[in-house]
Amino acid sequence: MSMGFFIAMEGGEGAGKSTHSKRLAQWLQEAGYEVVLTREPGGTPTAEKIRNILLDPEITDMPDQTEALLFAAARSDHAHNKIRPALNRGAIVICDRYIDSSVAYQGIARGLGANQIRTLSEWATEELIPDFTIYLDVPAEAGEERMDGIDRMEIQSRDFHHAVHQAFRDIAAASPKPNIVIDATKSKDEVAKEIIEAVSAVLPKR
Ligand code: TYD
Repeated sequence: MSMGFFIAMEGGEGAGKSTHSKRLAQWLQEAGYEVVLTREPGGTPTAEKIRNILLDPEITDMPDQTEALLFAAARSDHAHNKIRPALNRGAIVICDRYIDSSVAYQGIARGLGANQIRTLSEWATEELIPDFTIYLDVPAEAGEERMDGIDRMEIQSRDFHHAVHQAFRDIAAASPKPNIVIDATKSKDEVAKEIIEAVSAVLPKR
């Protein structure tokens, strides 16, 4: 059984996930917690190698199934070698994207099936599920402006990214797990404040 606390930060492109993951990590560190800030795809040497394949814009013939399996493979290494050990030591893990990203991008936007893709990642991680998920919600158009448009996922069509944004809304609305949806079109400071309030309310008391 893990004693730590696992937070996933989810949302479409350009929602500010990495900025807000860092700000939350800093706030928790200042409050005296051990924090492990990490991201997907990646987070371990093996998973970072898989990330390079996944985001390589020169690969133009990757079947959707290959993509889904590579995201799950990277996640498996990350969960086993980094996230679970950190939780077992009692750390708070903040992960910039996790299983819901696969459900939104591969399961729904690519059309591989939300249930199949969730089941694949749950198997790959031996059911390592976040204790709390933060969904940063921005309209797809607002996210597009902040995309640099160079990696293999970013260069997908506008319709694809619209489908991703709607998918995250649907996933959040249907999730039985503790979570919060935050309107990320608000100012950075307001979003950061809402995140800290939400996390403070759910963190187990030391
Ligand atoms: P990254 O540069 O980390 O994007 P962002 O800054 O938007 O988080 O690249 C990750 C890309 O991979 C991003 O386009 C989302 C996509 N992705 C999936 O399609 N499935 C997944 O399971 C994960 C974790 C990411």
